[in-house]
Amino acid sequence: MKNILAIETSCDDTSVAIVSKDKEVLSLVSAHQDFDHKPFGGIVPEIAGRQHTLALLPLIEESFKKASLSWEDISGLAVTNRPGLIGSLLVGVLTAKTLSLVKQKPWVGVNHLEGHIWAPFLKDAKAPFSCEQPFVALVVSGGHTHLYHVQGFGNYTLLGRTLDDAAGEAFDKFAKMLNLGFPGGVQVDRHAQKGNAQAFSFPRPLIEQDNLNFSFSGLKTAALRLLENTEGEKHISDLCASYQEAIVSTLVSKLKKATKQLDLKQVVVTGGVSANSQLRKQVLSWGEEENIQCALPPLKYCTDNAAMIGYVGLESLKKGMRGSENTDPSATSLKTDFGTS
Ligand code: KG4
Ligand code: ZN
Repeated sequence: MKNILAIETSCDDTSVAIVSKDKEVLSLVSAHQDFDHKPFGGIVPEIAGRQHTLALLPLIEESFKKASLSWEDISGLAVTNRPGLIGSLLVGVLTAKTLSLVKQKPWVGVNHLEGHIWAPFLKDAKAPFSCEQPFVALVVSGGHTHLYHVQGFGNYTLLGRTLDDAAGEAFDKFAKMLNLGFPGGVQVDRHAQKGNAQAFSFPRPLIEQDNLNFSFSGLKTAALRLLENTEGEKHISDLCASYQEAIVSTLVSKLKKATKQLDLKQVVVTGGVSANSQLRKQVLSWGEEENIQCALPPLKYCTDNAAMIGYVGLESLKKGMRGSENTDPSATSLKTDFGTS
């Protein structure tokens, strides 16, 4: 096995990476569609699929140029084929299938969430964190808020998940209420840095319960009610800081609970929301206090990227897994992925 070409098109980011057999990222190029979806305040699936078709082939060419490599240096392809927007996944999967046929290289379909789980382990000079297995993984993104017990590659148990909105979705919806732009998580994070997290009180659903599930839809309703009686523009920083604190403290509290229940000393926090400065700070300071190994991806591997798909693709191909002409995209995870969809 030499290098792998990886493709990610599950949502609204088109991304291509070449990853070496040692998990070093030789090139990573992405096209974002924020501008295309901004007028709608959320992702429009039809637009997302169409933009992938325009962006993908030029990005593949660019990834080769950046890495100074050619097809001869590639041993296989990896592509996200689940879960995600079906029209978006289709573009990546059909492209990978076609290239595999034309270039006579094996390909494998990768679960996007599995990609996030392993993102902190990509070899990168800017990745100072390491973590041994087994570990607890908190995957927090725009579509998912899941806690897993990871006992090794391919060996996952789902411990808990959101019962309604994902944490990233809660960030994005709040940003939309305050007209901060899309995607909103990073804007809330930015405003929160100047605000007082105690200024407003937001609910922390399920935090007292022993289970490891999350619920963020009540937070959105509480924010709507508060904004009916508050001049949002005058208090943006305090509102963002308080709202962010409700999400982050809920995430950290459940992460601590899972770690304690499993009696583990290793955690991974990953996915788009793991770019949140307050979440990173609270996880790392808890890790230091309690002597827990914490691994978070460098910022460029937090949000959707093909490098993390390359990591999983390499491991999967090494295990003999192969995509076939019948391997289709799927909007949800497979039952066999994590024991549940
Ligand atoms: O992993 P990701 O790129 O896509 C999905 O798989 O969903 O995650 C995107 C999510 C969005 O909801 C975005 O607002 C959120 O990650 N996000 C953040 C930050 N950066 C991205 N949320 C809070 N703070 C951030 N700094
Ligand atoms: Zn993602």
